[in-house]
Amino acid sequence: MHILFIGDVVGSMGRDMIKEYVPKLKEKYRPQMTIINGENAAGGKGITEKIYRSFLEIGAQAITMGNHTWDNREIFEFIDQAKYLVRPANFPENNPGKGMVFVKINDIEVAVINLQGRTFMNPSDDPFIVIDGLVEEAKKRTDIIFVDFHGEATSEKQAMGWYLDGKVTAVVGTHTHVQTADNRILPNGTAFMADVGMTGPYDAILGMQKELVLNRFLTNLPTRFEPPKSGRAQLSGCLIEVDKKTGKAKKIERILINDDHPFFS
Ligand SMILES: [Fe+2]
Repeated sequence: MHILFIGDVVGSMGRDMIKEYVPKLKEKYRPQMTIINGENAAGGKGITEKIYRSFLEIGAQAITMGNHTWDNREIFEFIDQAKYLVRPANFPENNPGKGMVFVKINDIEVAVINLQGRTFMNPSDDPFIVIDGLVEEAKKRTDIIFVDFHGEATSEKQAMGWYLDGKVTAVVGTHTHVQTADNRILPNGTAFMADVGMTGPYDAILGMQKELVLNRFLTNLPTRFEPPKSGRAQLSGCLIEVDKKTGKAKKIERILINDDHPFFS
């Protein structure tokens, strides 16, 4: 089976890329499952119910989050009903929502887990401890386990990849908004990629208006970042081929669509 994963969707331009390219990617790769990281989907921070539903309607079966999970307060109104929304599992135990969801695709079940890193990030529980319990729980139901590790440091994400090699199907990173070229299958069958990159404004700095970010660097003054509303855009993600009998990954391919990397159907 194939799992299509799309990285951090930023603002309306990112959402437009989803609308335009998810159908095309589905036609090209025929994935049985599509997962989208939506933590920046509402104006760059957080997600709304309407956006969550629009991602499901376009064919995603799970939406993962990250450090911006609570930044759009609307989430508190719908997260309890959002069966396929996955927020970092290592947030405090009393937080609403779930850190792992199971998605049924015909006769196969896939566990989707979201974790947040601790290096250069806001405090959270230890993801290495939390993941042990989740893998044990998931294994009772399925060997196909997908982990979106939302973190800043490539070292921490590589560490998680090696830690989980042979225990899960894939450890794929999000959050930095820059795609890494280290996609590989680790020796015990886990697909790894430190960061899949961002889906949204292309002529920007990590998806935010470049003038605003530049101003912060030039002046050191507090600046509110906003994503641009128009201009060129990109889509970033990866495609994972999975042996559905063993849950091991066979292949992980990078997906990058922008004017410098045009899409071929
Ligand atoms: Fe993030």
